[in-house]
Amino acid sequence: MNIQLSSTILAWLILSLATHVTSQQGIFNIRTYGAPNGDITNAFKSAWKEACASTIPSKVVIPEGWYKLQQIDLEGPCNAPIEVQVHGMILSPKNPYHLNGQDQWVRFQYINFFTLSGKGTFDGQGQMAWKQNNCPRNTNCIRFAMNFGFAFLNNSIIQDINSKDSKYFHANVFGCNNITFTNFNVNAPENSPNTDGIHIGRSTKVNIINSKIGTGDDCISLGDGSRQIVIRNITCGPGHGISVGSLGKYPNEEPVVGLIVKNCTLNNTNNGVRIKTWPGTSVISIASHLHFENIVMVNVSNPVIIDQEYCPWNQCSKKA
Ligand SMILES: *[C@@H]1O[C@H](CO)[C@@H](O)[C@H](O)[C@H]1NC(C)=O
Ligand SMILES: *[C@@H]1O[C@H](CO)[C@@H](O)[C@H](O)[C@H]1NC(C)=O
Ligand SMILES: *[C@@H]1O[C@H](CO)[C@@H](O)[C@H](O)[C@H]1NC(C)=O
Ligand SMILES: *[C@@H]1O[C@H](CO)[C@@H](O)[C@H](O)[C@H]1NC(C)=O
Ligand SMILES: *[C@@H]1O[C@H](CO)[C@@H](O)[C@H](O)[C@H]1NC(C)=O
Ligand SMILES: *[C@@H]1O[C@H](CO)[C@@H](O)[C@H](O)[C@H]1NC(C)=O
Repeated sequence: MNIQLSSTILAWLILSLATHVTSQQGIFNIRTYGAPNGDITNAFKSAWKEACASTIPSKVVIPEGWYKLQQIDLEGPCNAPIEVQVHGMILSPKNPYHLNGQDQWVRFQYINFFTLSGKGTFDGQGQMAWKQNNCPRNTNCIRFAMNFGFAFLNNSIIQDINSKDSKYFHANVFGCNNITFTNFNVNAPENSPNTDGIHIGRSTKVNIINSKIGTGDDCISLGDGSRQIVIRNITCGPGHGISVGSLGKYPNEEPVVGLIVKNCTLNNTNNGVRIKTWPGTSVISIASHLHFENIVMVNVSNPVIIDQEYCPWNQCSKKA
């Protein structure tokens, strides 16, 4: 065997060993992909791409530490179940105009068997955006980016993650089927505008359990097409409580069917459990099979409220 051949074989051996080791464990640590100036955007994209291509279950790991992350889309479909495990503190750009004009800062979509886990925190650093939020006065206002978009996910779990100071809603769940949030904790100040915790729309089998959500707006809200939703052992406050709606603003809304809110505590919220619909619309919206059980209210101004003339900031004519 000549030297050149054997060194080629050696290189091949090392290479195949290296890929064998990572792909066998299916672990993709973003640290191995570089992070110039602490910015992990490209590292996260590369790690995701490889993990998503893996034919065995894979895990992208973001270890402890502080990181910067720009707007990012992480998309499937992937070849096998995939998990993103976050231990670190991840910071969004402070300037709301530095997120490519996207609706969401971190977006996961079109994935089956997705898990987001770890004790890490996604910090939207929303203070600058809140000051520029004029949605209460202007119906055509610019909506700044939410911390999370979870769209078209099936059989997925979001657990132990913290979402802090989003520029707008914290998490939007859309087009999902069988997704569970557990110990998903949301934290934003009482006076931060439109920082709803979790908004659900056009999704089936969404479980939100064992979590604490404190924000400046709704704790959890259900938009049209929410079906088979379970909200259990959630503590809300501060904020505006748990809400079905608002419904009836747009044509072709899908019904909200099947909601169980159980063993929840609302503490220092202005509303408790609420159903809100816009007045005077010609559309017919349906909300049915709504079940509330064992709800503890502490210092709640409107514990149970059904508002069929929901019209914040007089944005509509009340011809109910
Ligand atoms: C999720 O489930 C829906 C309905 O079964 C299916 O059409 C869609 O392709 C699934 N998405 C993925 C990413 O597997
Ligand atoms: C829902 O998703 C979870 C998590 O992937 C999975 O364990 C469970 O089997 C799924 N349930 C159904 C009814 O498919
Ligand atoms: C309720 O959720 C909290 C976390 O917010 C958890 O510590 C507690 O164990 C949960 N209780 C039950 C009965 O699951
Ligand atoms: C619901 O709360 C009751 C006490 O209020 C507790 O005994 C029970 O374990 C809770 N159940 C769940 C499923 O959290
Ligand atoms: C309500 O919230 C206040 C302030 O966060 C806290 O001190 C208190 O223990 C909470 N009460 C209940 C019953 O959860
Ligand atoms: C009651 O809730 C309001 C906000 O809705 C809050 O400002 C006030 O401090 C709360 N009172 C107590 C005793 O926690």
